[in-house]
Amino acid sequence: MIVAIDGPAGAGKSSVARLLARRLGFRYLDTGAMYRALAWLALERGIGLEDDEALARLARENPVSFGDGETVIVAGHDVTGAIREQRIDEAVPVVARHPAVRELMRERQRALGQEGDVVIEGRDIGAVVAPDAAVKVWLVADASVRVRRRHAERFGADAEALATALRERDERDAVNTHRAVDAVEIDTTELTLDEVVDRVAALVEERR
Ligand code: DC
Repeated sequence: MIVAIDGPAGAGKSSVARLLARRLGFRYLDTGAMYRALAWLALERGIGLEDDEALARLARENPVSFGDGETVIVAGHDVTGAIREQRIDEAVPVVARHPAVRELMRERQRALGQEGDVVIEGRDIGAVVAPDAAVKVWLVADASVRVRRRHAERFGADAEALATALRERDERDAVNTHRAVDAVEIDTTELTLDEVVDRVAALVEERR
């Protein structure tokens, strides 16, 4: 069974998808980490973020993989921590919007999601990567809460700057974000993490 968790930055996708997977004993696939790893590698190799051909080649030659736990590996580097830096936040929406890059990533995501039960987190999973997913959830949250959550993750960051960065990312990621028409929307603004996971777990139970 595939459970697709999509939505904008800060809506709670990662926390929900991770905890849900752990609770249900499903695998967890973070597709954002794959785009982040490619952005990291492009910066490392000095490849222009607008150079779609070079980026697609880079993606083809360097498939992102996941190690033990949630280790993210690309081109032999453990980039688990590095892909969460601000410079990657800024580069990744640009890298992710090239159609050739998306096509490659989606193929790989489909392959990684093929076996067994999996929770897949992203922006286009229910709509494009896995339109047959048994459960599709679209998470949303008020902007102020999304900023607060990012602030809690990035110790010492300036809240005002984070709010601006989040707004800019929303704009740049709009083109990469596709909501499935049949996704169930959950507004996480007033909910705890456990409450959101309970709701998604109930949807999974309904489909079993
Ligand atoms: O969810 P995140 O912040 O880790 O996502 C990182 C970037 O990758 C973000 O710019 C959106 C993009 N992305 C995408 O275009 N498609 C996905 N399925 C997942 C993420």
